[in-house]
Amino acid sequence: MTPYGINRKTVVITGASGGFGSELCKILINEHGCRVIGIGRSREKFEELSQSLGDRKNKFRYVLFDVSVRENWQRFAKKLEKKDIIPDLLINNAGIMPPFEKFEDEDGETAKSVMDVNFMSVVYGCEAMIPLLLRSAEGGIVNVASSAAFSPVVGIAIYSASKGAVKNFTQSLCEEMRGRLYIGCVFPGFSETGLFRDSRLTEEDLSFIGGLGTDKAEIAAAIVRGIANGRKLIVCGKDSQMMTALSSVAPSSANALYTKVLTESGLEMFRRLK
Ligand SMILES: NC(=O)c1ccc[n+]([C@@H]2O[C@H](COP(=O)([O-])OP(=O)(O)OC[C@H]3O[C@@H](n4cnc5c(N)ncnc54)[C@H](OP(=O)(O)O)[C@@H]3O)[C@@H](O)[C@H]2O)c1
Repeated sequence: MTPYGINRKTVVITGASGGFGSELCKILINEHGCRVIGIGRSREKFEELSQSLGDRKNKFRYVLFDVSVRENWQRFAKKLEKKDIIPDLLINNAGIMPPFEKFEDEDGETAKSVMDVNFMSVVYGCEAMIPLLLRSAEGGIVNVASSAAFSPVVGIAIYSASKGAVKNFTQSLCEEMRGRLYIGCVFPGFSETGLFRDSRLTEEDLSFIGGLGTDKAEIAAAIVRGIANGRKLIVCGKDSQMMTALSSVAPSSANALYTKVLTESGLEMFRRLK
């Protein structure tokens, strides 16, 4: 494992307007002197983040675009090139999660949008940015998957599939780019963020996620530590550590256990899974 020199890098982060993304921006700018270019769709959330950076807000800029559209990435890469900006690190973090529901109750449109945002955006981002990242003295890509990539979760079959695709894509890319780019993949567990905004959570659901999960700032700090250590697989959050360990020795039992814990929890968010 070769450490990755994160200090003072120019970092592009997707989904930087909220959740893990905005926490990553704060840590990279405040603690590592990085310049960050955030990508997302909400100007309002970006303005708020920018204000929270105080004196250091000049280290942050944002670009608004939908990461699931290939042309947007091509345009973004051209713009960077035109301005002579050489990014060092790309963190593909943007993602969405539909409400917990059995696959048979979902429609094909939901599946397509989840795959487009969670997986195809990663492919398009890597495609557009690799030529620029290769110009950096220490280029790298970090893709955010989920513990669901190791241990698929009942009620979010397509989300789990999209994260499995991110994991396998990233691991293949890592071998292909060996010695030329640092490539890492992140596997966070549950954390209370905007990801569950469509899940119509009750107070009880939120406290379940809070109890099982890890604070978003802690997850972001673990991601940055993992990058600085040059880790290829960055597992963060206590539930993720447990599930990934169990899944690697007994995948079917891990899956059955996770399903039991969620469906027997009696929580509103998992009610439709029985
Ligand atoms: N929270 C968890 O429990 C958990 C667990 C495992 C993995 N993850 C993964 O961690 C990553 C970050 O999620 P989070 O928990 O921080 O969720 P979040 O708070 O909802 O943040 C996701 C960000 O992605 C952006 N985004 C969504 N769709 C986009 C699109 N089409 N184009 C551009 N930006 C888009 C959103 O920005 P705008 O609103 O500005 O578009 C938002 O800021 C995701 O990949 C998620 O799957 C989360």
